[in-house]
Amino acid sequence: IPVEDFDLVIFGATGDLAHRKILPGLYRRYLAGQMPPDARIIGAARSELTDDGFRDETRKAIEEFAPKVDKSQLDAFLGQLSYVAIDAKGTGGWEQLKERMRDGVVRAFYFSVAPSLFGDLAQRLSEYGIADDSSRIVVEKPFGRDLESARALNATLAQHFAEKQIYRIDHYLGKETVQNLMAVRFANILFEPLWNAQFVDHVQITVSETVGVGGRGSYYDNSGAMRDMVQNHLMQLLCLTAMEPPYHFDPDAVRDEKLKVIRALEPVSETEIVRGQYQADGGDPGYIDDAENPASRTESYVALKVRISNWRWQGTPFYLRTGKKLRARTSEIVITFKEPPHSIFDESGQKANQLVIRLQPDEGMDLTVMIKEPGPGGMRLMQVPLDMSFADALGTEAADMPDAYERLIMDVIRGNQTLFMRGDEVEAAWAWADPIIKAWEEGKARPEPYDPGSSGPDEALRLMHRDNRRWREIRA
Ligand code: BG6
Repeated sequence: IPVEDFDLVIFGATGDLAHRKILPGLYRRYLAGQMPPDARIIGAARSELTDDGFRDETRKAIEEFAPKVDKSQLDAFLGQLSYVAIDAKGTGGWEQLKERMRDGVVRAFYFSVAPSLFGDLAQRLSEYGIADDSSRIVVEKPFGRDLESARALNATLAQHFAEKQIYRIDHYLGKETVQNLMAVRFANILFEPLWNAQFVDHVQITVSETVGVGGRGSYYDNSGAMRDMVQNHLMQLLCLTAMEPPYHFDPDAVRDEKLKVIRALEPVSETEIVRGQYQADGGDPGYIDDAENPASRTESYVALKVRISNWRWQGTPFYLRTGKKLRARTSEIVITFKEPPHSIFDESGQKANQLVIRLQPDEGMDLTVMIKEPGPGGMRLMQVPLDMSFADALGTEAADMPDAYERLIMDVIRGNQTLFMRGDEVEAAWAWADPIIKAWEEGKARPEPYDPGSSGPDEALRLMHRDNRRWREIRA
């Protein structure tokens, strides 16, 4: 279904994110027939480029970053693009941009630039009368680096835009399976009655990556896994897993429930969080080489135990971990249920049921159940998977699943903020993360070293073993 006609301005249109995600994503939506024929995408950046120059760059980006996508309609798509060279801090280009914009269509502005420019862009858009009360702005992470800077950023944007106009992207919310988590929880009767401390032993959330930080070391070294992944992506996964059912699938109803989870998080004690940093391996650079900072104490891995102080989750810990250069690229949420209170079978072999929600790759769900081991040998139990890959179930190729950005950009045009973070939510997440980061920064301790290709530092295993639990193996 096509969305309303729109003018979308991408600030930072020649940058990495635009090339990798935003422009290929828009092209895929175009192929899906979702782009109105008159819709316009206006690139804006510092470089002096002609419209054709921008189209050429975009063509190359799509060929490079969406290699498997049908290119037959690329020319027609590029015809909807144009370009304005803009000086975010000065006056250059703003009048031209104003002239390009049409009345009576949705106006959206994607700030794919350093956060230090958000204020300038917002200011110019209102000063030149390019944005009005119905315009939307999209802002990328990092949204601040602590509570104070996030508050300042929110305040700056609020000078020019109302909250309902501000779309803070966390691309994890655009992933199909992340949305599926809500469908699984709230469109089935099976899980919700068990989804609480009475029946759930613990929850694991893992986002494991094989890439290092090479190429973006200077950003990453000032950030670390806690700021780069936990405060935002893992926090969002935690919220969707733990929140109460919203009364409706409506932006503020969902975001109110997420906020309540963040506010219920207990402070994390130093003994319940592990930081790691990958080491060099043979010829492969280690973290400090990638970051070009031999003294760096920045973490490329973090594992922690989180407690949610509310009725539903009292006594059920959530264990979170994420890291670079690990054994495999997997993101999953694992709900481990409690064992049955009493076993009627002598030769037990009883194991707890687990529900695994695989976010990537091979999006799907796996529920382990106990059955009888076949054969005449008595009542021996074994665990089997009820495993479903969404691609198989839906008869599609995994590669055909829409990318997170596609979905989110279209939601901006539709005016649907459900999958975007509200200002108070971001601030609450920083308020929780700040003391942890501050303690690290003030202390002298170094992150635990771990081998590339491993599942992280041994200390992280001990975090679970202490509680008589273990992480689900990270499998290649
Ligand atoms: C980004 C982080 O937000 O998410 C990166 O800055 C990380 O460090 C990336 O690699 C992971 O996203 P995805 O979609 O590949 O899991």
